[in-house]
Amino acid sequence: VKRVTIRDIRARKGAEPVVVLTAYTAPIARLLDPHVDVLLVGDSLGMVLYGMDTTLGVTLDMMINHGQAVMRGSSRACVVVDMPFASYQESKEQAFRNAARVMVETGCTAIKLEGGRELAETIQFLTERGIPVMAHIGLKPQSVHAAGGFRAQGRGNAEAAAIIDDAVAIEQAGAFSVVIEGTIEAVARSISAQLSIPTIGIGASAACDGQVLVTEDILGLFSDFTPKFVKRYTDLSVPITDAVATYAAEVKSRAFPGSEHCFGMPKTPKP
Ligand code: KIV
Ligand code: NA
Repeated sequence: VKRVTIRDIRARKGAEPVVVLTAYTAPIARLLDPHVDVLLVGDSLGMVLYGMDTTLGVTLDMMINHGQAVMRGSSRACVVVDMPFASYQESKEQAFRNAARVMVETGCTAIKLEGGRELAETIQFLTERGIPVMAHIGLKPQSVHAAGGFRAQGRGNAEAAAIIDDAVAIEQAGAFSVVIEGTIEAVARSISAQLSIPTIGIGASAACDGQVLVTEDILGLFSDFTPKFVKRYTDLSVPITDAVATYAAEVKSRAFPGSEHCFGMPKTPKP
């Protein structure tokens, strides 16, 4: 099967919303692949999988390993891999070198990086050299310390204008799509109307051209903290807890393993 391309994604502007979820592992990628347009290997994996407090400690090698796993587990979706903190901010050359490693070693279709105007030159450098870029503006988790915490973006005219300028700059630089995170509705709506590339919202309202959420958040598998913009579609922590508790009880009572799980045991006679 041919994967969804960045042309397919761009063509969704003004048509059907783009469906994006995060995936970090092959089995989750396999479950999501038939349902999404884009599988995002987000650096949120630092918090969700590795228990870090922020995404700042995520390394390029971690992103490459998980990118490979998601590629192996999927066949249809466009796979986009996040560039981790400090792998692209230093220079456009550093960004190309590291993004090329991600593209070559994972086989993914595109990379994502956090930034607006300050990264326009880098985004242009990458896209002109064969690396499709999804940008990420508004709330930028890799800048959590500089921003003084996680808080909604775009309140007040100056902040709103700055985010809109970021959006225009990254589109001009050649980004094929942009994630808008944690941004007030009016700003996300204005950006989505002005840009000709699809905007993918997370906490940025239904005015965006698509939506992304962290898969573990919608499944109830990550509860360290739950932002307002998360919708929990199910709580898998309940069946997992039940299954594990039952296993533990059966091991202690020797109800597990049964003869059907053992080698060299007489077959139970048919009645
Ligand atoms: O790291 C991530 O999962 C992301 C999405 C939530 C947009 O950047
Ligand atoms: Na991210």
